[in-house]
Amino acid sequence: SQVQDMSKEKVATAKNMAFAFDIDGVLAHGNEPIEEAKEALRMLNGDNELGIKIPYILLTNGGGKTEIARCEQLSQILEAPISTDQFIQSHTPMQALAEYYETVLVCGGEDYKVREVAESYGFKNVVHPKDILAWDPTVSPWRVFSEQDRADAKPRDFSKMKFDAILVFADSRDYATDMQLIIDLLLAEDGKLLTRAKDPVASRIPIYFSQGDLVFPTDHKGPPRLTQGAFRIAIEAQYKALTGVELERVVYGKPERATYTYADEVLKSWMEQIHNENRLPQNIYMVGDNPQSDIIGGNMYGWNTCLVRTGVFQGKEGENDANNPANFGVFDNVLEAVKAAVRKEL
Ligand code: G3P
Ligand code: MG
Repeated sequence: SQVQDMSKEKVATAKNMAFAFDIDGVLAHGNEPIEEAKEALRMLNGDNELGIKIPYILLTNGGGKTEIARCEQLSQILEAPISTDQFIQSHTPMQALAEYYETVLVCGGEDYKVREVAESYGFKNVVHPKDILAWDPTVSPWRVFSEQDRADAKPRDFSKMKFDAILVFADSRDYATDMQLIIDLLLAEDGKLLTRAKDPVASRIPIYFSQGDLVFPTDHKGPPRLTQGAFRIAIEAQYKALTGVELERVVYGKPERATYTYADEVLKSWMEQIHNENRLPQNIYMVGDNPQSDIIGGNMYGWNTCLVRTGVFQGKEGENDANNPANFGVFDNVLEAVKAAVRKEL
């Protein structure tokens, strides 16, 4: 019948759209869910007029713990099952680097959690800055180092170790120590601590940052707070001042193109899991709160972009971002964005 044909057509359209959600400032603030996000995910998980799942992935510049741990936590607070197969955090694509580097300094995040992350990616010899502090506390005059830190550290003889690369996975919890050790390794002869290279460039080991955001939304009442991009800029300035040359580095995360091509792959295999079709939906909607990462990246990649007012963006009613306007629109929250996109497509 005509009604059946119409709904068949709608089901096909539903399979041809997908969402990529930012997390901080869109679905949650840290460990607190944004209430409207729960209903948005319920809708996409099949609680809609067609009773069909609309695919979505989570694409965050956050990080610092394993994909499994973060997805468990998100599933709980958002009251929706979040699979690691639909989840990309800033450092997820960096697992490809494990093929090239064995001994790595891994910085950022709470406690020693990034050690577990790097080991799960297959890096063979993972060193945390606090392992080095436990070996020789004098490397960092203004260190932050507790009794618990000492108990959990894995000190080794770092004077004999050759580092292959530096990986920054999340926000530093001890800027002084992390900056000192990163600069030490960048200036060292071939990644050997306690040495200084004659030529700063020839034997320098590579450095990778998991994302470039300058600020992020927190529960602070004032403007957004500084994050990894600000830390990186400080390292770059220190390196330039000490050597006279620009630091070459690689940055992952949104709005870097590589992160979006990675997201396409994840979305394709997620489509296969939920709809048994290994292909990319045509109409992808990115919902983000940061014009300088989510929106500019999505715009450049040809996605439909939705900017929400629950995070970094603080514009007033009716305003879009002046420099990186969202091409689909600005919404009060993620639920409004999802409803508008679904209304447009179906
Ligand atoms: O910038 C740090 C991080 O908290 C941002 O996460 O989910 O907004 O990309 P997200
Ligand atoms: Mg965000």
